[in-house]
This record gives sequence, C-alpha cells and structure tokens, in this order.
Amino acid sequence: MTLPFVLFANPGAAYRERKAEVLAAVERSFDSGHYILGKEVEAFEKCFAAYLGVDHVVSCANGTDAIELALRALGVGPGKAVFTVSHTAVATVAAIERAGGQPVLVDIDEATYTMAPASLDAAIQHLLVHRPDLAPAAVIPVHLYGHPCDMDAITAIATRHGMSVLEDCAQAHGARYKGHMVGTIGAAASFSFYPTKNLGALGDGGGVATNDAVLAAEMAALRQYGWKERYISARTGINSRLDPVQAAILAVQLKHLNVDNAVRKRIATIYTTELAGCGLILPTTASWAEHAFHLYVIQCSNRTGFTAFLRERGVGTAVHYPAPVHMQPAYENRMLLAPGGLSVTESITDRIVSLPMFPQLSHDDVARVCSAARQWAKTHN
Ligand SMILES: Cc1ncc(COP(=O)(O)O)c(C=O)c1O
Repeated sequence: MTLPFVLFANPGAAYRERKAEVLAAVERSFDSGHYILGKEVEAFEKCFAAYLGVDHVVSCANGTDAIELALRALGVGPGKAVFTVSHTAVATVAAIERAGGQPVLVDIDEATYTMAPASLDAAIQHLLVHRPDLAPAAVIPVHLYGHPCDMDAITAIATRHGMSVLEDCAQAHGARYKGHMVGTIGAAASFSFYPTKNLGALGDGGGVATNDAVLAAEMAALRQYGWKERYISARTGINSRLDPVQAAILAVQLKHLNVDNAVRKRIATIYTTELAGCGLILPTTASWAEHAFHLYVIQCSNRTGFTAFLRERGVGTAVHYPAPVHMQPAYENRMLLAPGGLSVTESITDRIVSLPMFPQLSHDDVARVCSAARQWAKTHN
C-alpha cells in the first residue's frame, strides 16, 4: 500500500478539522448583510488586538499591504531609507518600494536567520556618510520562520538614529521575545494571514498592530482611499480591506492559535531529537526567544539530492527562500546593501530546506519525515 504524500504545508487540513465552526462563521458573515468591513472585521480586529495585548489592530487585504500602510503612516516616502533583511519574503522589500522608500538590505545572524544588529548599525553609518540624500527612517526586523529577532539590540540602534521600528510578524503569530509577544515591541507590527501562516485565513488577509491611536487612524484612512470621511480623501490612499468572511474565519482560527503553536513546537522538538547528530544543521532557539515554528528549516550540503530523496519517499519540502531579494532578477544590481555585503545571507541560500510543518501533521507523518531524512544523512553525510 502506498502511503499518502506528506505535504509540506496543508491549510486544507485545518479547514477540515474545523469545518463546522468555519462554515457557521461564514454563514453568519453572509447573513449579516455587511459585505465590506463591518462587524466581523471590527470583531476580529478587537480579538486579535486583545490576543497580542495592543490597543489597535487595523486589518487590510494582505501582509504586503500591511507593511506599506504602516510605513506610509510612519512617514516613509521618497528620500527615506528603510533597513531590512534580504533573507525574507520578497513582500517585505516590495512594500518598502511601494511606500516610496529606499530599501537598504542588511545581513542576518547565522544562528537565528534574523537581522544581525551589527550589520544594521554598519549599514546606517555607511548611509549617513555616503548618501546624504537619504534619511534613515525605519527598520523592519523580520521574525523569520517564527524566530524573534534580537529586538533590544535593534531597538537601541533605531532609537539612537531616531528611526521607527516596524516588526514584520508575518511568520511569527504568538512568538515571544523575552516574554513579550512579538508585534508589541515596535511602533507598529505587520501581520499576514495567508492560509499557511500560523494564523491563516482561507484566502488573503493582513493587519497592523499598534498602541498608537494616531497611527491606527492614519492606517484606517489609508486602507480606504485615504478617506477621512466617506467619499472625501484627505490624502491618497489605496483599497486594502480585509474581507468580512475572512475576518469571521480568522476569529475561529485565532481560538486555536495557542494550541496550534504548541503542536508546532512539539513537532519541532521531535525533529530536533530525531535528527540530532546526523550531520544536518538543525534550527536553534536563542535564549530570549519563544519560537512559533512557522517553519522548521534545516541546512544540508546537497539540497537537490536531499529533497529528491525525500520526495521519492513521499515527503514534501520547500525552500524559504531560493534566492535572497538582492539576487532576484527584479532587484539584482540595484539594492543598497550593508557595507561588506551579505555573506551569511548568501552562504545559506543553497543549503536551506523547510521540512513539513503544520499542526495537523500526524505522528506517523512526522516519523516518516525523520526516517527519510535520517536515511539520507546516513548515506550522504
Ligand atoms: C516575512 C513576510 N513578510 C510579508 C509577507 C507578505 O504577506 P502576504 O503574502 O499576505 O502579502 C509574507 C508572506 O508571505 C512573509 O512571509
């Protein structure tokens, strides 16, 4: 008997597990008679704000828009430099450009895969000397894979230069830094609710968290044509509203987030225990971090061979990401980079692989992943 393929991610499994709850929420939303914004959206914004422990969540259509809206509300535009990492979803950098800012890409720490504070500091110093036409305005630390960035060090550098911190929490719903929920540390924090995320809709969705009422009001206006009142735009905005049906679904998913994250952590612990010592480089968790394990990313020297071997044994994998942003065709040769380049970022690109990770993975599936990875390591390391 052939066993079913172990998918790398499977948002449909969460849907099937919660089908009655999800469909009741969908029906409630359709029955409400509100098809744009309205009660479901407000209710989800309130419960997600309460979950995080912030005063405001302004929802929007996706995580890319969330970054753009937050940056624009923070005053980013032409002539303003925004520092982030190249080892991220391209969305982080695309949103900076859409806000009119100039991205400056810095290197990552090799243990956490997140922004290296020393590289950030060097990039700011370099910009101040060589690009007097650009003012350092904001830093976007990305809590990549669910691992929180070194926020104290990053915040200290940003504060020294009068820059805002916008946390990109697209992969880190529920992660904590020194006990603080990520998304509550910077001036604002963007979230994606893409279906595979730890908190995922069954379609697109995004939002920004903040304790700043002025910033929240600005983002709420910007997401709807810059309206301060209906049909009157105070500034040029965009149309980026969270669909009420997705808001209703997200309110259901939010109730399961803590348990889902605990299951992700349990799966990560099994991977780490079972794959220890077999020659693959496994993820680590910094002392300050509570990891949300959006992804479990390992490194191996022959990725093509490894992923093909697993595929033959019915195990799916993915790569996050196959090329850093500054090496992708749309961005290469035109990004500003930290002085000395992005050596850590570039050194891991060909080696990283994401193993299957989602809360509905069965114990047997996890065992199959471990067994296939161990078999490969035995013969290839
Ligand atoms: C780190 C990061 N930032 C931003 C985004 C953008 O989110 P969305 O796909 O909802 O626009 C994503 C999602 O892929 C992400 O992983």
